[in-house]
Amino acid sequence: MINYKDLGLVNTREMFAKAIKGGYAIPAYNFNNMEQMQAIIQACVETKSPVILQVSAGARKYANPTLLRYMAQGAVEYAKELGCPNPQIVLHLDHGADFDICKSCVDMGFSSVMIDGSSLPYEENVAVTKKVVEYAHKYDVTVEGELGVLAGVEDDVAAEESHYTKPEEVQDFVKKTGVDSLAISIGTSHGRCKFKPEQCTRNADGVLIPPPLAFDVLAEIEKKLPGFPIVLHGSSSVPQEYVRTIEQYGGKIPDSVGIPEEQLRKAAKSAVCKINIDSDGRLAMTAAVRKVLAEQPGEFDPRKYLGPAREELKKMYARKNIEVLGSANQL
Ligand code: G3H
Ligand code: 13P
Ligand code: ZN
Repeated sequence: MINYKDLGLVNTREMFAKAIKGGYAIPAYNFNNMEQMQAIIQACVETKSPVILQVSAGARKYANPTLLRYMAQGAVEYAKELGCPNPQIVLHLDHGADFDICKSCVDMGFSSVMIDGSSLPYEENVAVTKKVVEYAHKYDVTVEGELGVLAGVEDDVAAEESHYTKPEEVQDFVKKTGVDSLAISIGTSHGRCKFKPEQCTRNADGVLIPPPLAFDVLAEIEKKLPGFPIVLHGSSSVPQEYVRTIEQYGGKIPDSVGIPEEQLRKAAKSAVCKINIDSDGRLAMTAAVRKVLAEQPGEFDPRKYLGPAREELKKMYARKNIEVLGSANQL
């Protein structure tokens, strides 16, 4: 049993309370490898931002759970080395599918876990979430639950259609489970195609313009749970410059559309205090790698294409912290 406090990590409690008061959101960036982790930490140190390092079940399978945990421990020391004396870093399990994976993460030093029972019948979601909360809270690990279903693939949970969170359920869910934060569904979804083309309009250049998020549902939820931390998944903005670069250098990613950044900025000013971003990191890295390999066909040193990918990622994360989440200068 390793406690996250011994690794220099923090849980989300104080971080979220400050974010709600301050009208900003904490970035929750997924990582699977060293370059992504370095880019996240560099950007967050440079912009003086707290950060949630997110690990999915897929990331654990890809990279090995122990290695990822040691990387997060290393991230704290790395942030100090880069000049941040008191880094505020959370190590969070993204979309925990059951009690066992949540327990395993609590036991190996995670400071926060998500139990995603959103695809279960309501009472089963309540039961499994409560069980995780009871275990995690013994170690002061914070827990995120989810109500409502996002379209797209959430690791082992896949849904064709999204269902908005029902505001009439949120109070009961929070009270019965004791969760520390709640992920809701108001029109975001996972992946690079957040809306079907028929749900969007197109601008003069043929770029898809998505429908707005359901801010009325968010407002209802906030009314039922004043001051309670709300989480938005599926919040990549799918920058069109990366989509264009990927396609220019041989990729095929049609109908890519994300959540406009003004809408995320608006959400960050509300009780939304955690915004999850994974796909944008994938796009930034892929665009940079494709460009280097296409322009320099003789290159075969991974550092020569992963280095520029890491630099592009860092630039993107820093800009998001400053312009979208508002988490810059909040350390
Ligand atoms: O919500 C899902 C995240 O983007 C994680 O994706 O399961 O492919 O690691 P992954
Ligand atoms: P995106 O696919 O929009 O980046 O969402 C990531 C996410 O919600 C991780 O849990
Ligand atoms: Zn998610």
